[in-house]
Amino acid sequence: MTTDKKKKNTNDQWYHPSRDVIEKAIIKDYEKHYQKSIKDREGYWAEEASKLDWFEKWDTVLDSSKKPFYKWFVGGKINIIQNAIDRHLKNWRRNKLALIWEGEPGDLRTFSYHALNREVSKFGNVLKSMGVQKGDIVTIYMPQIPELAIAMLACAKIGAAHSVVYGGFSVEALAERIEDADSRVLITADGGWRRGKITDLKSIANEAMKRSPTIEVCITVKRTGQDVYMENDRDFWYHDLMTLPIASAKCETEVMDAEDILFILYTSGTTGRPKGVVHTHGGYTVYTSTTHRYVFDITDEDRWWCAADPGWITGHSYIVYGPLINGATILMYEGAPNHPYPNRWWLMIEKYGVTILYTSPTAIRGLMRFGEAWPNRHDLSSLRLLGSVGEPINPEAWRWYYRVIGKEKCPIMDTWWQTETGGFMITPLPVTPLKPGSATRPFFGNEVAVVDDKGKEVKRGEEGKLVIKTPWPGMARTIHKDPERFQEIYWKDYEKQGWYKAGDSARIDEDGYIWIIGRIDDVIKVSGYRLGTAEIESALVSHPLVSEAAAIALPHELKGNAIHAFVILKAGKSGDKQLGEELKEHVSHELGPIARPEEIIFSDALPKTRSGKIMRRVLKARALGQDEGDLTTLEE
Ligand code: WTA
Repeated sequence: MTTDKKKKNTNDQWYHPSRDVIEKAIIKDYEKHYQKSIKDREGYWAEEASKLDWFEKWDTVLDSSKKPFYKWFVGGKINIIQNAIDRHLKNWRRNKLALIWEGEPGDLRTFSYHALNREVSKFGNVLKSMGVQKGDIVTIYMPQIPELAIAMLACAKIGAAHSVVYGGFSVEALAERIEDADSRVLITADGGWRRGKITDLKSIANEAMKRSPTIEVCITVKRTGQDVYMENDRDFWYHDLMTLPIASAKCETEVMDAEDILFILYTSGTTGRPKGVVHTHGGYTVYTSTTHRYVFDITDEDRWWCAADPGWITGHSYIVYGPLINGATILMYEGAPNHPYPNRWWLMIEKYGVTILYTSPTAIRGLMRFGEAWPNRHDLSSLRLLGSVGEPINPEAWRWYYRVIGKEKCPIMDTWWQTETGGFMITPLPVTPLKPGSATRPFFGNEVAVVDDKGKEVKRGEEGKLVIKTPWPGMARTIHKDPERFQEIYWKDYEKQGWYKAGDSARIDEDGYIWIIGRIDDVIKVSGYRLGTAEIESALVSHPLVSEAAAIALPHELKGNAIHAFVILKAGKSGDKQLGEELKEHVSHELGPIARPEEIIFSDALPKTRSGKIMRRVLKARALGQDEGDLTTLEE
């Protein structure tokens, strides 16, 4: 790799790691390791897997006989908890802090690995006493409090699968997910703190339970203390249950097959309802811990802060599982980054001596807006690495993050991945020379390409579709209850080649660096959160005055993208500003505040294909004043 290439644009400026970073790096030579890993992919993953604790070793590393339903570490017996908690209890890490948690009002709780094990074991026993069995799916709907992680870990420990629904989602989103998972048990909280206000989780949960009658037991953590409605025989307080004799601190970790389900996580897709992406104990344990360790050079001295929410895959893989498997100390924070002042994060980094901060471009842009004086007032010298995830990072935000937060000594790991991939797929390592805005190179074992519709690689520098050509242990195994959709969405377009279609467009530059451009399907990334146009549209159509709706994403300075919704009202109705506001509120109530449209545009007709599909591409081009492209299929 040369640095003296002619600079085509300012993004091509190189940033090299310091000698200090290189000295501390676990992997010093990316290229050598990468070549080795793709020459013998199974050998590579077997070697990484053997660094973990297995109850029984696997017979076969990779079973590709039923593509695309790959199986990893077949015959192996493992439980992620054996690796994330149990094995740390056998050495000095027992007394190491596993979790430092700060609530938005400023309350602080800490858990050593020993304490975390106690809480997880007790709650595991509580769940068992409620009839939860191996293989059941428990829905978790909580604010970002320690009990959220404890509930997830307790499910995994006793062999139940969890389905975490992000606490920012609302009634319909929650009801739909409970129903699809057939959950009997729901774990929630009375509320959580956000920008000095209480979010009313239990009321939303109550309303959702009315719509999805599968729930028989609801366990509520008392967080905010407001009055909530509790139903006899269905509702229990967490703190009551945890003091009963059934909540014993002795709980066996269930022996699981490597391919047994660890969790499902609903994510927005191209069509219709959200899909429950399935991850399993074996491959996910190997993939999250390996990626976390190498990409962030994790050591026992680290205080790791992934400032996402456990309700999304980022929180599953890199707040909870990956870091705990690696024995790190994790920091979790309940509330908003700018509450009560925009220095909240910087204060916490200083206070707890955070060494690695992993967050989203939206959060960086949001904090950048308040100016440098806020971070400059704090000692951020404990930081040694930074990370970014969720959407492409614009070079301006990258440079600010690098200069103001990292003081030009912390490389930024721009990690590209998805709910479906389980962990980082394209990412630098600390030793990788960086270009702002590029996620750089594939992680070990992965071969990726940017191709056209036929699967032919596009020329260097040209935009195309991102595909992953080879299987990896953290890959989604299927969609819950819908294996056909799994095949259809990800594998059908390049069936012949057997490649995974990511749903993103990208380009590869002359140095082999990968630049992610954005989604090319009907998924919208708002502030890094993933939403489906179909979900937003169906929320709009559930309003009595709306007949049809189409949602599109338009660029937004802070959020990356914002939702603009075109709405056709029922015959005889006309739209005005007030109704526009009412519709925004309606979406917010049904789906959650993150899905609230930026703008509602009343319209008489929508551009459709002859087969009746809304052409969102045309709406978007019109809104942006761009060329509308090929209109031959337009019905009008
Ligand atoms: C986008 C989040 C650019 C991308 C982990 C992907 C990114 C989608 C990056 C998955 C990145 C994620 N650069 N885009 N570093 N990371 N994305 O499932 O469009 O919530 O397909 O997983 O986020 O979103 P998901």
